[in-house]
Amino acid sequence: MPSSWATFGRDLHLDLSGPGGRRAGLIRALRDAVRSGRLAPDTRLPSSRSLAADLGLARNTVADAYAELVAEGWLTARQGSGTRVAWRPLPDGGRASTRPRTGPAARRTPVRAGRPDRPRFDLTAGTADVSAFPRTAWLAAARRALTAAPSEAFGYNTPAGRPELRTALADYLARARGVRADPERIVLCAGFPQGLSLLSRALGPGRIAVESYGLDFHRAVLTRAGLDTVPLPVDAHGADTRQLAGLDDVRAALLTPAHQFPTGVPLHPDRRAAAVNWARSAGGYVLDDDYDGEFRYDRQPVGALQGLDPDHVVHFGTASKNLAPALRIAWMVLPDRLVDPVLELKGTGEWQSGALDQLTLADFLASGAYDRHLRGMRLRYRRRRDQLVAALAERAPHVRVSGIAAGLHAVLELPPGTEQAVVEAARWQGLALEGLSRFRDPTAPQPTRDALVVAYGTPPDHSFTGVLDALLRALPPAL
Ligand SMILES: Cc1ncc(COP(=O)(O)O)c(C=O)c1O
Repeated sequence: MPSSWATFGRDLHLDLSGPGGRRAGLIRALRDAVRSGRLAPDTRLPSSRSLAADLGLARNTVADAYAELVAEGWLTARQGSGTRVAWRPLPDGGRASTRPRTGPAARRTPVRAGRPDRPRFDLTAGTADVSAFPRTAWLAAARRALTAAPSEAFGYNTPAGRPELRTALADYLARARGVRADPERIVLCAGFPQGLSLLSRALGPGRIAVESYGLDFHRAVLTRAGLDTVPLPVDAHGADTRQLAGLDDVRAALLTPAHQFPTGVPLHPDRRAAAVNWARSAGGYVLDDDYDGEFRYDRQPVGALQGLDPDHVVHFGTASKNLAPALRIAWMVLPDRLVDPVLELKGTGEWQSGALDQLTLADFLASGAYDRHLRGMRLRYRRRRDQLVAALAERAPHVRVSGIAAGLHAVLELPPGTEQAVVEAARWQGLALEGLSRFRDPTAPQPTRDALVVAYGTPPDHSFTGVLDALLRALPPAL
């Protein structure tokens, strides 16, 4: 019997001919069907008994073929969910086509809707669990905000943003983040990069210190604004801000003090002080990117750096991690003398987040819904972080995890030289994740560290167990 039709759900032509007998023929035929896409990822295969009956083979022959294909990574077998086609890279193996479709990468790559190459699980850093967006509470806030909004709110709004939101943020940031804020020094922007761009243009040409690990498109914003970036080494205490004092012509330093992105370490108190002291004595500015500062698990969140010196620290915050990136609402708390230059640059021509969303967020903050949502999300993320740490301790104790005190991602250390292979293995498990080296400033003299940046905050709750299984399958065994 050279070939046969198997009829599980859909007819599938399996060509069992060729060298090596029926077992080898079946393995080859199933592998071809998976490789060519005729068997789609996650398709449940029939039991070995029924496929054997369909093809006129012994049951053991089918069971052996399945086991072989599971070992090779073409199929997966799990108690209760049977044998399924594994998630895998596209047949062309093309890097571009399998790029993650969410997280920061999505902002650089246009998304083609409905592509079958979308990874099943997303562990790329940059996005909160958007499935947990508080829809009901947000709708209630929107209803209240729109009912109370003055008619002028529906017209063109000022570059600084709605006063209701600036007032609510000033209260919230002072209370929750220790920021010395008043509404007149807050400028709303449509995402952190817009704020960063405005501010760097206001600073004028010169040099700016950045962390040697960070987001490339943030560095690109700075260079487009005419600033040359100077990388500061990042170690177990965060960015080495002590080096700022030895640098010439540096106008500012962009830092992520609460939770270094992406290595995950909070900036050591001595380094916080060194950064602020430098800004004060050099007449420069520290730009504090407080992107996920509310998520601290081992103790109360550390106050934002701005509280130490509001004249030399610019505080940046965003609704992206706490609520959703889709809102495109971020804010800057500026030193007095930067307010006018920034507002002048922003003018009325720059894009702004919608005034109705700004009003809704103002109500959301003032009514306490924001705090309630954050408390719930903190518990949820903490639970996931604990699950990740426990799963690693049990099933991959040789993998060291760090950066877990805060934020929505952790760093998994890998043996030298293995990072790319592990990222590739993860793709075969249908898992989009990124290695630490992707975030390294290529001009930084610091040597590369092999590690994974695992954004445990990104996937929705219901898929988290599956995500962990896929991750653990991708990790290298103990040497
Ligand atoms: C390091 C870092 N800074 C800032 C942001 C905020 O970016 P945005 O306001 O464009 O969503 C993010 C993403 O949430 C981030 O990962």
